[in-house]
Amino acid sequence: MRIRNEDIDLLLSKLHIEDIVGEFVELKKTGANYKGLCPNPEHNDTNPSFIVNPNKNICHCFVCGFGGNPISFYSKYKKITFSEAAVELAQKYNISVKTIDSNFKQDAKYDRYYNIMEDAYEFYKNNIFENHSQPALEYLSKREMNPKIIRENGIGYAPTTGWGILNDYLLSMGYTKEELLELGLIRENDKGSYDFFRGRIIFPIYSTAGKVIAFGGRTIEIGENIPKYINSQDTPIFKKGKNLYGIERGNIIKKKKYAILMEGYMDVLSATIYGFDVAVAPLGTALTEEQAKLLKNYTSNVLISFDSDPPGQMATEKAGFILKNLGFIVRVIKFEGAKDPDEFLKLYGREAFLDVVRNSLEIYDFLYEYYAKDYDLSDHISKQNFVKKFKEFFKNVEDRLEKSLYIDKLSKSLGIDKNVLIEELVVSNAKDIKPFANEYKSEITNFNENKIVTKLEKETIVEILRDVNNYKYFKLKEIKGTLSKKIFYYLEDCNFNEPIKVCMDLKNLGDMSEEEEKILDEIICLSIDTVNNEKERTTKLADIFRAWVIEEIENYKKNITNLTDKVKIGRLEIEIIECNDFANMLNIYKKYEEIVFFHIS
Ligand code: UTP
Ligand code: MN
Repeated sequence: MRIRNEDIDLLLSKLHIEDIVGEFVELKKTGANYKGLCPNPEHNDTNPSFIVNPNKNICHCFVCGFGGNPISFYSKYKKITFSEAAVELAQKYNISVKTIDSNFKQDAKYDRYYNIMEDAYEFYKNNIFENHSQPALEYLSKREMNPKIIRENGIGYAPTTGWGILNDYLLSMGYTKEELLELGLIRENDKGSYDFFRGRIIFPIYSTAGKVIAFGGRTIEIGENIPKYINSQDTPIFKKGKNLYGIERGNIIKKKKYAILMEGYMDVLSATIYGFDVAVAPLGTALTEEQAKLLKNYTSNVLISFDSDPPGQMATEKAGFILKNLGFIVRVIKFEGAKDPDEFLKLYGREAFLDVVRNSLEIYDFLYEYYAKDYDLSDHISKQNFVKKFKEFFKNVEDRLEKSLYIDKLSKSLGIDKNVLIEELVVSNAKDIKPFANEYKSEITNFNENKIVTKLEKETIVEILRDVNNYKYFKLKEIKGTLSKKIFYYLEDCNFNEPIKVCMDLKNLGDMSEEEEKILDEIICLSIDTVNNEKERTTKLADIFRAWVIEEIENYKKNITNLTDKVKIGRLEIEIIECNDFANMLNIYKKYEEIVFFHIS
């Protein structure tokens, strides 16, 4: 028996390190942590150096390194494998987690869901050529869909000959009412179950792997109170905001290196019929970030071809922001004489659509035209407001080079100085400073003289104790806390060859208040956290360094008065805020140091 990897985290979240260790070691509470004699038989500890940290759910001996999380500690202590330790602890503490065996049941459940959808799909498909489906075929034929096209695209029909014919059919196949309800194929009221789709043309919706996971249904009746389309509800195998209609052709999109984003089922189908087999559509919602991320797995080039009416234009703007934010190259198709691509293709054909593709506008140019309609650019005030309209767009452009190219363009077309545009659209418009920086900032602003250590200092010291080589990055920073000062003073001329010795030395610094000692213990304990991986570490280091630099820049900014320097510093701030890579951050910081140097000299 084995516990699934996915469930190890769950198990860990329910095991308390102090309970597990407490069984073998006598623990004494010190602040947020516990302390005791190291249980490693090879260590022979006499002076308590084993720390248990309930917050991080880990333990560690800072003399011999023994310890770990509840499972790894238990496995080392009992000299059994990690896997055995996990199972033993789950049983011992009566925590129910799935083992590999019961996992098969879960898979089988999902296999059944897919089978049900497949059977429902066959049922709808077969129905469209029945006698009673004549009205549906007539409707489709009016929309230029002949039987060949219908068959090729898996289009079906949900008949109205009864209230629950799909229900009856699927129950007869051995599926249960609960399953059909879960998949949204039937509904229930006080009279019993009935089919969710009735009297509707059925469009199958596929997963990326090409399995049917949902349906869209278009009514063929014209009625005020009938919704034109209804879609499957969210189910265990379908999440509307995360799927795209047409994404089963992802590999074609990958090969052709672009996708066309449309509004509706009919648009995508027509596009396919006219040979544009890279069209996808959000499912009856505005494009979501998750849908855009899904598309990003296949391409970074998107042509938006929404409806030509005002709501379509507005949706283009919104979708454009979401796509730009994820680094897509976005173009927009514009046409006249048809309300949507479906109608356009049917009226004017493939060649005409190729023409509008060729004449598509880069998203910036689309927005320029779109916004310009509402402003008189010969008027001063109006021109200012027009510029402000671009704020949202610039917020969503991720790439710095791209941003500056857009600024160039805007500056040329409006005759406004580039630096002014940068100040307006880039500097004062940057995304909010990342939360951690803010978090540190409030503490620094409200600093009081007797503070032992600030949050930022604490995390910095943790990183230094974790790897003493990190000290060089922070040695010139302005340290304020009483404990931090003592630690930095010690670090200034200590020998970094033996990290463990650094911890011991710190503990023997003497001249510390009880409170300071408690916090030092806590810091040492944090520094031996074994859970995080290398990547998390460098991101953390970047975060901490960023917070220091932002504070430094804020102080420096108070002394600059001319616009050019302001803009230069503003640009650096944005680079700093957006940078997630520590090495890169150090380079940006060098640039900052150069600016400061020139300013002084
Ligand atoms: P449209 O109203 O533009 O429909 O809605 P359409 O694609 O032009 O449909 P036809 O050409 O009249 O048949 C665009 C998309 O919005 C969703 C559907 O996904 C539709 O394809 N929608 C629309 C709904 O989910 N429910 C509705 O009632 C209407
Ligand atoms: Mn339409």
